[in-house]
Amino acid sequence: MNSKGLAVLSCCLLFFVWAECQQEKPSKATAKKVTKELKAKENKFSRAVGKKVQQGASKFLKKGQAKPTMTIPSQKQPSPLSILTRAVAKGQFQKVTDTLTLKAGETLDLRCKGKSVKWKYPPYLEDDDTEYRLRVKYFQKHSQLIVVNTTAADTGEYSCWSFQCYDSECRDGEDKPGKTYIFFTDPLELFVPTENYYEVIQMRTNHPALLPCQVTNPLAKVTLHREFPPEKVVVDGIDISYDVKRGFMIHRPRPSHAGSLFCMANMNGVRQISTKYMLIYVNYPSSVPKPVVRASTASFHIGDNFNVTCTVFGEPEIAVDFTWEYPGQQIGRPPYVREHTDLVRQGGQVQQESKSIFYIDEARVVDDGLYSCIAENLQGSTTVSTRVHLVQATLAPRKAKSG
Ligand SMILES: *[C@@H]1O[C@H](CO)[C@@H](O)[C@H](O)[C@H]1NC(C)=O
Ligand SMILES: *[C@@H]1O[C@H](CO)[C@@H](O)[C@H](O)[C@H]1NC(C)=O
Repeated sequence: MNSKGLAVLSCCLLFFVWAECQQEKPSKATAKKVTKELKAKENKFSRAVGKKVQQGASKFLKKGQAKPTMTIPSQKQPSPLSILTRAVAKGQFQKVTDTLTLKAGETLDLRCKGKSVKWKYPPYLEDDDTEYRLRVKYFQKHSQLIVVNTTAADTGEYSCWSFQCYDSECRDGEDKPGKTYIFFTDPLELFVPTENYYEVIQMRTNHPALLPCQVTNPLAKVTLHREFPPEKVVVDGIDISYDVKRGFMIHRPRPSHAGSLFCMANMNGVRQISTKYMLIYVNYPSSVPKPVVRASTASFHIGDNFNVTCTVFGEPEIAVDFTWEYPGQQIGRPPYVREHTDLVRQGGQVQQESKSIFYIDEARVVDDGLYSCIAENLQGSTTVSTRVHLVQATLAPRKAKSG
């Protein structure tokens, strides 16, 4: 299956999923209409959060990695007090910990030390509809972030860092960024709300897949389930693990993981299920193709037939697309190409041999030049070329002599 085929399949699945929803939940769909706009925002949030949090995390990681190269190990201090604190009462502050659990509805009041401070919070809070609930104030030596009338959807990572500006150039300050993950518990919303009943997740070979069912209460008991056949999925912490801030992670996806899955949360006798995740397994190549190109001859005479073969050895079931660039292209000579794939055994391993053969019949002057084969799979493409020369007419007499 090539990338186009994959896109078509994805579309079919999406349609199927949509159609299924229409059949399954007609009453719910109409009931939902009123809150649809609101929910749409929430959905935007829930999808965006995952991304933002990841981006944020990698940003911090980079900074963390950069630091040791600048500091001599012996000078390393125990980590300084976090620059991030939370107001718990008037004039009373508390250092934030890795995670915080607040009740939905409570006011969140965070302070970040520094002259110039930047904040990062769930993007849901940037929406027009929710903007009025969020306020950020800047003072001489700190900044304050307030969220009023919090909801379960505000669950996510909150972080801040200070930076220094000299002239017009700003750089991150010396302080370590402050961050915390805040759960806003709501007994009626055990999962951070999303609009979709289904979410399609592409699982690739050798790439971990995340089922982002984020809970609003870290104490909720969360399990993973398969819809057809209905069964509980074993979460052993090795093949599949659970992170209360992110969801379930399938570390080494296999075709058998594909299907419709959902998370279930249990808390004080309340049981809720998450969005359903439609997992599609995609055979994903481990690397770009490594083609080899070979012409049947290095030189030709006018009227000869010759061919150029492009060969790729790779993992079975991985589609390779070939395209050619050739000298006759400019004058519109149509390409004559044949492709085939075979399974071959090489050093005890089964490999797929993909071949594209470019035929030149009754060669002409325009066929002299460079033949390039572009081999492409889902990881990318590689181009290899070979040159085929027209034998000069002046050589002809020599041939006559020898013959
Ligand atoms: C927060 O909720 C209260 C009570 O529902 C309401 O009176 C108030 O206007 C809300 N504040 C904001 C900023 O939405
Ligand atoms: C390519 O051309 C050579 C020389 O004409 C010929 O022997 C060979 O069979 C051709 N290969 C294919 C795959 O047609």
